[in-house]
Amino acid sequence: METKNDLFFIMKNMRPMRRLKPDPIKPEVITEILDAAICAPNALNTQPYKFIVLEDSEEKAWFGKSYDEAMILRFTPILPDESDNSKNARNIRTAMKFGKTMKDVPILLIVCGKRDWPFSVEKKDRVGLAPPSPGSVYPCVQNILLACRAKGLGASLTTMHQVFEDELCRRLKVPEEYGVVAVIPIGYPKGNFGTVSRVPSSELTFSNRWGETK
Ligand SMILES: Cc1cc2nc3c(=O)[nH]c(=O)nc-3n(C[C@H](O)[C@H](O)[C@H](O)COP(=O)(O)O)c2cc1C
Repeated sequence: METKNDLFFIMKNMRPMRRLKPDPIKPEVITEILDAAICAPNALNTQPYKFIVLEDSEEKAWFGKSYDEAMILRFTPILPDESDNSKNARNIRTAMKFGKTMKDVPILLIVCGKRDWPFSVEKKDRVGLAPPSPGSVYPCVQNILLACRAKGLGASLTTMHQVFEDELCRRLKVPEEYGVVAVIPIGYPKGNFGTVSRVPSSELTFSNRWGETK
């Protein structure tokens, strides 16, 4: 039987929370969240990540505006018709409004990853800057989302900064050996946490070989 604080209940009811109150978050709460986040698995325990807790109003406003412009640029061509009231269409419309609210969100958590080439890329092909290693950063990101939830905070994973990452890194003084993997706006939620809807795992799982089921 699942209860409201049960990990399984939380995982099934952890839709991105994009409607956030401007109320401040105590620094010790953020520390607690990050202390839990870094317990996530990471390659060879190298912990190839750093965090920037962005609270500066001017930088948050710049980020929100840049995010909004990037969303308009990338999503306008695929925006669903106004008459479309499906869950997916409503999700996209909510996501489109997010950037405009980011200046008022108490914290934008910038998760940086150390640049590293995947083993599959041979030395001779390693040209330019390596990508920030996502494999060691995403488990930490998921822990941040779960820890926020445990503290009654709303959070969501965003990556739209990729459109303006160079400028973001320049403004926040991120050194060249790191890139920004994700930006997580965090605040106390305005609404309720929604139940996720996914294709059931039974439709995504094979037995022993691809395409074979029991
Ligand atoms: C790699 C990755 C990048 C994402 N980037 C964004 C983003 O930039 N902005 C956003 O609002 N949501 C972002 N999301 C959240 C997804 O859009 C969301 O989880 C998905 O649409 C499913 O919706 P649901 O979780 O509400 O069910 C991202 C999720 C992942 C895993």
